[in-house]
Parts: sequence; C-alpha cells; structure tokens
Amino acid sequence: MSVTIKTAREIELMRESGRLLEKVHDELGAFIKPGISTLDIDRLGEKLIRSLGGIPNFLNYNGYPASICVSVNDEVVHGIPNKHRILQEGDIVSLDAGLIYKGYHSDAARTYGVGTISPEAQKLIDVTKQSFFEGIKYAKAGNHLYDISAAIGGYAQKFGYGVVRDLVGHGIGTHLHEDPQIPNFPQRRRGIRLVPGMTLAIEPMINIGRADVAWLDDDWTVVTQDGSLSAHYENTILITDGEPEILTLSK
Ligand code: MF3
Ligand code: CO
Repeated sequence: MSVTIKTAREIELMRESGRLLEKVHDELGAFIKPGISTLDIDRLGEKLIRSLGGIPNFLNYNGYPASICVSVNDEVVHGIPNKHRILQEGDIVSLDAGLIYKGYHSDAARTYGVGTISPEAQKLIDVTKQSFFEGIKYAKAGNHLYDISAAIGGYAQKFGYGVVRDLVGHGIGTHLHEDPQIPNFPQRRRGIRLVPGMTLAIEPMINIGRADVAWLDDDWTVVTQDGSLSAHYENTILITDGEPEILTLSK
C-alpha cells in the first residue's frame, strides 16, 4: 500500500491512540519483576488495552497468538508469551505492544531490566533507546526517510553493536503496517521525502553481538544467531512542520 498522509482529524485520533498505548506501557513497565511469567505480562497488557477502550492489534495478526510480544535476552522481537517462561533477576525483556482506537493503530516497544542487570545489558538498553532519538532528529519535513535510518544505525554501530537488518520500522495508521518500510541502517538511496501528516513507527532492534538473526520453530520468535542480548525501542511518531511529535511518549 502507499504512504498515507493523515488529515487533522486522523492525527487527533492517532494522538489519542498513542496516549492510550503510553499508559499501557507505563503500567506494564511497573509490573516487570523477577518471578512473573511472560504470559502474565500479556494477560495484563490485553486487559489494560481493552479497559482503555482499545483493541489489541497484534492478537491474531498473521496468526500471532497474543496481544503483547515479550522477548527475553537473546530474543529480538515477536517472542510468544508463555506461562512457563519466568523472568529471572538479571534478564532483559522487550515488550512490544500496540492497539487500535477508533480505527487508528499505535505501536511502541520498550526494553526493561529485570531486577539488577549487568552494566553491559544496561548500556545496550540505553544505546538502543538513544538510537531512536538520534534517528528522529532527522524526522522533519523536507528530509529524506533514510536520513533517519542512517542516524539510527550510525549511532549504534559506534558502540560495536549489531544493528538488525532483517526487520524494519513502518508507516502506521488505519493499518498496523503501512508503507514506507523504515530500515535501521544506512541505505544507498535517500528514500522518500518526509511530509507533514506522515505517521511512522520507528523501531531500532540492536544486538550486543552480531546483527544476524534466526527464527525459532514457532515461526515467530526472532533470536540473535550468536546468542547475544538484544534490545528494542519503538515509538509511533508524527511528521510535522517542525519537530516530530512522539505520539506514544509524552514525558
Ligand atoms: N511492532 C511489531 C511490528 O511492527 C508488531 C508485532 S507484529 C505481531 O512488527 F504480529 F507480532 F503482532
Ligand atoms: Co512496529
């Protein structure tokens, strides 16, 4: 599908959708502790989404069986919640959540430490988050899409990390995945020109080790090939006449 430019009314609905998703993430973040299962996170997340008047957009998406993607340690993204997978002190866990509100999708991800984590793991989480912010410095009307990609990848690579190439960010609106695809590493071309009213899900996935990933037999869970830790950070943003607006993060 083509890149959609949202109207003023659609932007208001995207804002509302994003605000609700931020609340879901804030509550899930506060819930993370050793001893809970990844299914506990999904159960709480789905309940929160529905209680706020949203619909979980990941549930049954291409057959995905849960509302929240929960990915632990070397799992990059799309981990499937499981009652037997118990978070342990020192783990890192990525929560990817999304919802539909009045027909408009939002999508965001955070990576948390479980209890006390190693300095190396914390640095990975911090750099992954910062790579998003480095990227959106270029998320301005008139710039080109891959300016964002280059800034994200260039920043993470300075730390020797592997920037995942097999998965990308995306446009978002009345569909979870709209054009354009948004890689997290430098491209040879410049990409489309950014225009106010575009809404984009920017989502760096960064590994401590090499960039290569593999899929588990469940056909969903993406893991690092070398077993190294991986972090994910994502927000839905709006391209404006000035600075980008982060729709899933207000503070
Ligand atoms: N944020 C994820 C993405 O953009 C959404 C999960 S897809 C699902 O790919 F199928 F797992 F729901
Ligand atoms: Co996404």
